[in-house]
Amino acid sequence: MDTQETETPFARAAFCSTDNTPRRLPTTVEAIKSNPFGSSGGLCHHCLLMTAYFALKFLHVVGAAVLLGTGAGIAFFMVMAHRTKDAATVAGVARTVVVADFLFTATAVVAQPVTGVLLAWHLGYALIERWIIVSISLYLVTGAFWLPVVWMQMRMRDLALASARTGQPLPPAYHRLFRMWFAFGFPAFASVLAIFWLMITKPTLT
Ligand code: HEM
Repeated sequence: MDTQETETPFARAAFCSTDNTPRRLPTTVEAIKSNPFGSSGGLCHHCLLMTAYFALKFLHVVGAAVLLGTGAGIAFFMVMAHRTKDAATVAGVARTVVVADFLFTATAVVAQPVTGVLLAWHLGYALIERWIIVSISLYLVTGAFWLPVVWMQMRMRDLALASARTGQPLPPAYHRLFRMWFAFGFPAFASVLAIFWLMITKPTLT
């Protein structure tokens, strides 16, 4: 892609230089509609590619925020509910958490590799570059810990609901599951943080 960047690392805006006239690329719908390149008659091919790239990267970064944010939020609310030792509270929070995981986390889990691979293709990164391979491996590690966690949350919800209905305290099976759920969260969360680091730094791993 024929682009150049501003001189300072603090203003890394992309510029199009198809006719050797550096111009800031449009990043808003208004900018695109206003035909910023005047007499050239609309956006050039490179500008459209760059706008597509920004859109893709936007989706990828939002997906990353959803993964990290939903994960951290779910962990926080589950721990807070557990600390009340109240079966009805745990059942209510676990029910919401399961829905949030299916709605937000599952969507981001599917979308993230799709936007990631498209970004790599768009930028000309080989998928066999080490930082990408390590990221994908860590992503699989996250998934391996996240899938049982979803099941554990559903099981804890059911056990808490049964206790709340009969007025019994939370059973030992619930407490065993909670300890396991808590332990599984660490490698999953650490892997996501490591992926963030790899994506941002894109290190040359040897
Ligand atoms: C699973 C397959 C994935 C692939 C193939 C992939 C690929 C990529 C590529 C090629 C970029 C570079 C974009 C650019 O330089 O403009 C990128 C950026 C990024 N990725 Fe991923 N990604 C994947 C998963 C993830 C995951 C799971 C997360 C976090 C949860 C994540 C977070 C990010 C972030 C925050 C950036 C922006 C980094 C920056 O601009 O400095 N990615 N990704």
